[in-house]
Amino acid sequence: MSKDKIVVLTGAGMSAESGISTFRDSGGLWEKYDIMDVATLEAWERNMDMVNEFYNQRRKQLHEVEPNEGHYALARLEEKYDVCIITQNVDDLHERAGSSRVLHLHGELKKVRSSVDENLVYELDGWELKKGDTCEKGSQLRPHIVWFGEPVPMIPKAAEISSTADIYLIIGTSLNVYPAAGLVNYVSPGTPIYLIDPGEVPATHIPGVKIIKETAGKGTPKLVDELLEKAK
Ligand code: APR
Repeated sequence: MSKDKIVVLTGAGMSAESGISTFRDSGGLWEKYDIMDVATLEAWERNMDMVNEFYNQRRKQLHEVEPNEGHYALARLEEKYDVCIITQNVDDLHERAGSSRVLHLHGELKKVRSSVDENLVYELDGWELKKGDTCEKGSQLRPHIVWFGEPVPMIPKAAEISSTADIYLIIGTSLNVYPAAGLVNYVSPGTPIYLIDPGEVPATHIPGVKIIKETAGKGTPKLVDELLEKAK
């Protein structure tokens, strides 16, 4: 008997209880930094040291934080379901919690890539990327992050995965940023959709969505227990 497939779309709220700042909550990253100063290719080319430092600080923080109960609950889901996590997050907390299938839409903090050949991607030793760090072709290495205005190469795959979901979970995202926020449109009609978020998320356009007004750390374990209980 094949397992039912659960697809989970996560955002910054998934990692909030691990101590990683969200972007648009009060106190979030975009209150402290202007997106155009730290999250665009033009910004990186204009002020490489400052942008590298922005990501170096966030990468360093990764060594100081742990997955939370929400991450661990999603890993537990794999006991009885075929689970695929599509995350907008660039941290590695889903992987560290034990999830085996994680697709990063917006890149990964722990990776860097060639600035002339996007297929040359490397795990960064340590947490610092500096001007002068070069790829095997001799070009400057850049953060392996999808910056605003850049293509999101994993979207077609994420859309295809979303269309195969038997159950769809949306956790910790304000659904502000496209194309990620549009993935829910690929979910086949009638598929149960649950949205976990303590805040107000514009979700009226999602037919039949069940809103769970809780944090990821509290709401996810409860929902996972329910789903494991009723699994085939
Ligand atoms: N548990 C669950 N959700 C939470 C929690 C929590 N403890 N705390 C906050 N949230 C919710 C907020 O209510 C909000 O809906 O998480 C969401 C965070 O929204 P954003 O800060 O906009 O983060 P996200 O949706 O992931 O942003 C998408 O925007 O800046 C770009 O590339 C960046 O991937 C990011 C994308």
